[in-house]
Amino acid sequence: MLEFDVSYARPFLPANWLSSRLDGLTEARQLLENGEGLGGEFTGWVDLPRSYDREEVHRVLQTARIIRRQSEVLIVVGIGGSYLGARALLELLTSPNYNLTCRRSPQIFFTGNTLSSDAMTELLDYVQDKDFSVNVVSKSGSTTESAIAFFLFRQLLEEKYGREGARDRIFVTTDRTEGTLRALANQEGYATFSIPRDIGGRYSVLTPAGLLPLAVAGVEISGILDGAAAAMARLRRPGQDNPAWQYAAARNALYDQGKTIEILAGYEPHLRAFGEWWKQLFGESEGKDGKGVFPASVEFTTDLHSMGQYIQEGKRDLFETVVRFTIPQSSCLLDPAPEDPSGLGYLRGRDLRFVNEQARQGTVLAHVAGGVPNLLLTVPERTPHWAGQLVYFFEYACGLSGYLSGVNPFNQPGVEAYKTNMFALLGKPGYEQRKDDLPPALHP
Ligand code: PA5
Repeated sequence: MLEFDVSYARPFLPANWLSSRLDGLTEARQLLENGEGLGGEFTGWVDLPRSYDREEVHRVLQTARIIRRQSEVLIVVGIGGSYLGARALLELLTSPNYNLTCRRSPQIFFTGNTLSSDAMTELLDYVQDKDFSVNVVSKSGSTTESAIAFFLFRQLLEEKYGREGARDRIFVTTDRTEGTLRALANQEGYATFSIPRDIGGRYSVLTPAGLLPLAVAGVEISGILDGAAAAMARLRRPGQDNPAWQYAAARNALYDQGKTIEILAGYEPHLRAFGEWWKQLFGESEGKDGKGVFPASVEFTTDLHSMGQYIQEGKRDLFETVVRFTIPQSSCLLDPAPEDPSGLGYLRGRDLRFVNEQARQGTVLAHVAGGVPNLLLTVPERTPHWAGQLVYFFEYACGLSGYLSGVNPFNQPGVEAYKTNMFALLGKPGYEQRKDDLPPALHP
């Protein structure tokens, strides 16, 4: 099982950091379980590892085989929760260099998560002479970034393969019945997958939103779902030995001590994209009503040479949560002669993994001494099963944590502010009044 260790944060926590929060956690758990809290209509993910649609997952696997057969490249169109989970688990379970190392699987590029014309043009050019398929993921079906990217890639598919041929290469993941994308898919006869109505974007990685791209990459998605189910069975049980309760309580207590920034740290580049998923999960769930721990992420030891100085000696409002894997997947033995000019003779016979572990231990000690509490999450292996456990752990802890701090963990009203201004500036029908309200200097 995942192990959560608070010992390197204890000097910064009051003795009652957990006991004083047990009533709040009991209540938060109740709200998650009965769906009666704020945003309770979006708690479908709590039971998902047990109640997911088996038939649809079977179809995901069949479709992945088709995409693998017919494509050199899969373009995944989506933003926020509609791509971060897929990308996080793809990089965690394969490699951040997946597109260089995949041999028997299509390359996978994520787009629709930016409005950069340079990035878009680059990718459109890249697939121009390749066989490619598109998986567009949007629960609402109307998000501007993904709608634009889908429009452009659909256009290219139709130019290349004709309307009929494009139809066999477009796979839509959206709401079961509603939205522009669902209507378009029905009209054109595209293959579709559903994001359940009661699961919001950032909790959707275990739905086809995450599972289809992962299956195309050859990731064993049944292992992910099994891992999530195992975590669910443990974490839904109440009690102070529950690691999700401990994590939610510890971060809540640290926040009360003025530690308002949490840094997720890993010692594997494979966790880089996972950090982006985790930031969205906690940032969008908790950052509202003037509250919330600000989520950041770093990759060690890389960022010890960029962010390390600040973490060690900057403003003391930080804490770290370190994710560590214990069972190695590979070995890289160092074998310099004692007199080797590299000066690395003292490492003779050591595995690089050992060096990385000493770096981790040295860093924890230094950061704690520098005033940065460390929480440690130990995961046995970087496998689908443990990735599923990790996802569910953070989702469940985030739900608890949101309710513990008194916010609705399942809405994101703040995301609308930039959209409303952007639509007004773009002249989208219905936003004329808003444009008149903007300061004149901002008018195009
Ligand atoms: O977590 C969320 O709900 C958001 O990040 C959404 O996933 C994001 O805004 C994309 O929305 P949609 O899937 O409707 O295109």
